[in-house]
Amino acid sequence: MEAQFLRAFYDLASWIRLSPLLNGPYLPFSAWGLRPGALVRLLDDIALNDRRAVVECGSGTSTIVLARYMAQRGHGNVLSLEHDEKWASWVTDQLAREGLAEVARVVHAPLAEHPAAVKHVEWYTPRTVTDEVGAFTDKHGPVDLLLVDGPPGWQQGRKMARYPAVPALKDFLAPGASVLLDDVNRSEGVEITKRWEAECGLVMELDPHGTRTAFGTYGG
Ligand SMILES: C[S@@+](CC[C@H](N)C(=O)[O-])C[C@H]1O[C@@H](n2cnc3c(N)ncnc32)[C@H](O)[C@@H]1O
Repeated sequence: MEAQFLRAFYDLASWIRLSPLLNGPYLPFSAWGLRPGALVRLLDDIALNDRRAVVECGSGTSTIVLARYMAQRGHGNVLSLEHDEKWASWVTDQLAREGLAEVARVVHAPLAEHPAAVKHVEWYTPRTVTDEVGAFTDKHGPVDLLLVDGPPGWQQGRKMARYPAVPALKDFLAPGASVLLDDVNRSEGVEITKRWEAECGLVMELDPHGTRTAFGTYGG
């Protein structure tokens, strides 16, 4: 119970901190989206470490808030991988409505077999990922912030759905890049962070504010 209160209080405080970015058109925040505390953590990392090339797995209101902040700062770009075509179109249209298409782009990447995946749990189409993230880093430099909030991993048999993000993208990461994994409250989230640490040279830390995220740094 106490943890729930702490989390609710932290979320409330985070909404207040996010308010300069919520003055634009209404956004349909939902249970699917990153908690406000996690969004604040991301934006703090961008502000304090001058992040400029952000790749996101799993698009949504987070994509739009990140783009609003990048636009406000006057530099920085976001590339978001999204498996659901309809959702990719909604986020793309919202970015366009807000004049943010130059700042953030959503790429529709259907789920498919991926060589980095665990036991054939599908991840984003390998060719699309390599082409799109390659073109993005050619233009904007290596990825200095990776947000792993998709694809969904709650369905039966898809528990390790988010694992491929770091092994598949580590060649595109800058040394010292931040990596944020959401939904670490689930045991598979902990397993994913442990595997990234053991296999990919990351040091991951669970967020102490109950946002259910783990934040890590890539050693390069
Ligand atoms: C955890 S969500 C990603 C949320 C996103 N990073 C955010 O913070 O808004 C994972 C997937 O759920 C789907 N999704 C996200 N928001 C949705 C919504 N409001 N309705 C339906 N599907 C949604 C998308 O396919 C997305 O890639």
